[in-house]
Amino acid sequence: MSIENRELLDQQYATLYEALGQDEDFAFWLQSLPQQIEELTFGKPHGKRQLWLDTLAALPALTASDHDFTQGKVRIGQAGDCTDEQRAELKQLLETFIPWRKGPFELFGIDIDTEWRSDWKWERVIPHLSPLAGRRILDVGCGSGYHLWRMLGEGAAQVIGIDPSLFFLMQFHSMKHYAPEAPVHFLPLRSEDLPDFSRKGFDTVFSMGVLYHRRSPLDHLQELKNSLRDGGELVLETLVVDGDVHTALMPEDRYGKMRNVWFIPSVAMLELWLRRLGFRDIRAVDVTVTSTDEQRSTEWMRFESLTNFLDPDDSTRTIEGYPAPKRAVIVATL
Ligand SMILES: C[S@@+](CC[C@H](N)C(=O)[O-])C[C@H]1O[C@@H](n2cnc3c(N)ncnc32)[C@H](O)[C@@H]1O
Repeated sequence: MSIENRELLDQQYATLYEALGQDEDFAFWLQSLPQQIEELTFGKPHGKRQLWLDTLAALPALTASDHDFTQGKVRIGQAGDCTDEQRAELKQLLETFIPWRKGPFELFGIDIDTEWRSDWKWERVIPHLSPLAGRRILDVGCGSGYHLWRMLGEGAAQVIGIDPSLFFLMQFHSMKHYAPEAPVHFLPLRSEDLPDFSRKGFDTVFSMGVLYHRRSPLDHLQELKNSLRDGGELVLETLVVDGDVHTALMPEDRYGKMRNVWFIPSVAMLELWLRRLGFRDIRAVDVTVTSTDEQRSTEWMRFESLTNFLDPDDSTRTIEGYPAPKRAVIVATL
């Protein structure tokens, strides 16, 4: 199988491998990581991968005069950095990566209004964390990478996102192409693919919107623990239900039309899981019901969204009759 136009990804990985190789606590990862990435990115036939790589390779050569990762809209470049013709060409290429779910972004004056106001989640999370400045951060299940940029905006030293979706990897690179030096990387791994860093891993590990997708939530939490350093901080964001320490919802089939939802625990049960795994200083810092202003269809995500997943006669219930999505943020220390 010959794969064209893979240089952009190869260059990005090479930069990361060089950085990892210079770090005594992370260098061991290089024994497995390059082969794993090769296998996960290119190992299997994939109907769209070549189209996506060709799209990335066709991105116009523009230089961003600046960027801003500190505001709700992650912005790279200014409208004045390119001609109207170049912007139209870029917009068309970015449309190859519709649906855009996590954002919003602005690239050379093009507004990408995503399905989710991921900036709202960030605003709920960030006030409660140890400052991210100078830290090495892992974001597990990073989607398009929106929060990776916000972590950089907080001054993180290095940010690595992992997500098994090659589609999201390509969305990320359509941004990274215009900020090639930024110390932010996206690896197409699942949390199950991470090594045990023997308590010398990342300073902060995020897992937002992933736990309920795992059949085995405790294994997921153990993988997050294995990625942290001693004294490091876990930021866990997930769906929850009301109830005591004995309460969790397991949907019979779909939840809010999603197929792959397994456990939705109460906050009290989540805290118990974290205590059992050896976390300390466990704090539920936010619980919010998701609104149809936060998750909705847009020009950049034209499929159904939250309104269609709720009971039309009772917005406190999903279409299947379960409690409507409510999300908690839990912070804990290793
Ligand atoms: C609901 S999205 C959350 C995206 C982002 N973290 C956020 O909070 O907006 C869940 C993401 O987790 C990813 N995911 C699913 N299973 C995973 C696993 N085992 N390891 C890592 N990521 C996973 C999915 O591909 C998807 O992008």
